[in-house]
Amino acid sequence: MINSLLNKFELDTPCLVLDLDILESNLHKMQVAATRAGKQLRPHAKTHKCSILAKTQMAAGAVGICVAKVSEAEALVNRDLQNILITGPVATERKIARMVDLLSRAPNLMVAIDRPESVTTLADLLHARWMSMDVLLDLDVGLHRTGVTPSAAMDLARLILTRPELRLKGIQAYAGQVQHIPSYEERKKASLACLQEAAGVFRQLQAITDTCSIFSASGTGTFDIDLEIPELTDMQVGSYVCMDTEYLSIGSAADPKQFSAFTPALRLLTSVISCNQPGFVTVDAGLKSLYRDGGLPRLFGEQAAGLAYSWFGDEYGRITSINGGELPALGSVLELVTSHCDPTINLFDRFYLVRDDQVVGIWPIDLRGCSQ
Ligand SMILES: Cc1ncc(COP(=O)(O)O)c(C=O)c1O
Repeated sequence: MINSLLNKFELDTPCLVLDLDILESNLHKMQVAATRAGKQLRPHAKTHKCSILAKTQMAAGAVGICVAKVSEAEALVNRDLQNILITGPVATERKIARMVDLLSRAPNLMVAIDRPESVTTLADLLHARWMSMDVLLDLDVGLHRTGVTPSAAMDLARLILTRPELRLKGIQAYAGQVQHIPSYEERKKASLACLQEAAGVFRQLQAITDTCSIFSASGTGTFDIDLEIPELTDMQVGSYVCMDTEYLSIGSAADPKQFSAFTPALRLLTSVISCNQPGFVTVDAGLKSLYRDGGLPRLFGEQAAGLAYSWFGDEYGRITSINGGELPALGSVLELVTSHCDPTINLFDRFYLVRDDQVVGIWPIDLRGCSQ
């Protein structure tokens, strides 16, 4: 239970807070941008790992939710969510069977597919169970992580079309390699090149079958750029809802030095637990509370100008003064904007929800640890 008078700075730390006013504004901005351009939102739950937040995105107008893993899809279905797209290929027999098990409770489940072997294994299993499933061709537009190259895409599509157990609904083409290009103009050029190539494949598919109606792509870093692609139907954006310093520090159409379209709704609160050394104080959030491979977290708001965080081991961080900022006293609670929101969120059990700094609720991070 949350005491209705609790201020966020009274919470035990380290903990994650979500500013609901900012979160709602981020959701609204992305939904309006997509709707105005005639696109649908299919936000990625890999960012927030929270079924209530996924439901909030659906209530705000999303047509479905993306996940990376089968276990995330299971967790969402267990909490009554439908229209789920698994954006990564499901390749092992064990995992394919697990996904097909879920299909009976989630008939609209879709999966991205990128190999002939997976087509055969999935279709054979569906055949044995008298079932069918929607699939998207996973197109590799330069990330080279998963996906079929555009030149090999039609062969894979024709194989899928030979199997009545599979309904080829379109393509998924996530250009992850371009999302954080600092220069907006360079990012724009790179993203449009990727998605124009994907659009060519999408048109070829539509020429050979009338089932293809979904072209899902895009990320937070290119959301406004990709809206220009006429063939694009669905935006599978993730980070925009919480935001992090990796995204805040790339250039945007409005400002070459920062990305201001969305505001950080997610903050990590950390307390000063030691101040026995000259020149710095020690806080209670270290590597176990903050994902490291995205750079350093940043102090939020007015504190950002005078204080800086640096790593101090598994459990601790070091706060030093910059530009003559005054070091905080023992017990002070500081607010950090995390450097990479997805893996940081995966370290916590719950979000504390705040409005005007008052704690108004808790959302469990119930997909946390769903990495299978
Ligand atoms: C396949 C896929 N789609 C969409 C996204 C969402 O991207 P972003 O967080 O940049 O909005 C990701 C993020 O890594 C992803 O891997």
